Amino acid sequence: MYTGILHLHNFMRWVILILLIIALVRHFSGFTNKKAFTAGDRKIDLFLMISAHITLLIGLYQWFAGPWGLKNITSNGMGQVMKQPVQRFFAVEHLVGMLIAIILITVGRGVVKKSISDTAKHKKAFWLFFLALIIILVSIPWPGREAARPLFPGM
Ligand code: HEM
Repeated sequence: MYTGILHLHNFMRWVILILLIIALVRHFSGFTNKKAFTAGDRKIDLFLMISAHITLLIGLYQWFAGPWGLKNITSNGMGQVMKQPVQRFFAVEHLVGMLIAIILITVGRGVVKKSISDTAKHKKAFWLFFLALIIILVSIPWPGREAARPLFPGM
């Protein structure tokens, strides 16, 4: 079962990245062309937030139940984990980076509820999502990194 969940976690990366790029394009065009904040914008932002939260829940399960999170820290000790780049990546860096990115996505999705102009909503959502995208890109275990993982589930 763990492998299936890991594959889902891997796949969700693409869902989040695609939704983030669509949302960024819509919000960028929204604030530069002073467009209304539409139901379509709300939907994309909502799907993005839901996908991020699902990935967070799966990630938390992996961190607590899998070999790379809590178990690694309790069996090897935090000092040892921090000395090993791959162990440190999954036990600390990936977790912290993704948590920050998911908080930014959640706050970005929430701007729709603020009593500010539609242009200001687009602008705020754009910058929050842009920051989230950078952090996610830096926190993904891309091929070629020390903590490399496959691009697609099961590959
Ligand atoms: C936007 C959110 C996230 C994205 C895009 C993401 C992406 C990924 C990817 C692509 C992998 C490699 C999967 C594989 O080996 O096939 C991975 C592994 C992992 N992620 Fe995430 N992740 C996210 C959030 C989180 C969070 C919040 C946590 C912890 C709470 C987490 C914990 C882990 C762990 C422990 C692994 C290694 C699992 C293992 O190999 O057993 N992830 N993540």
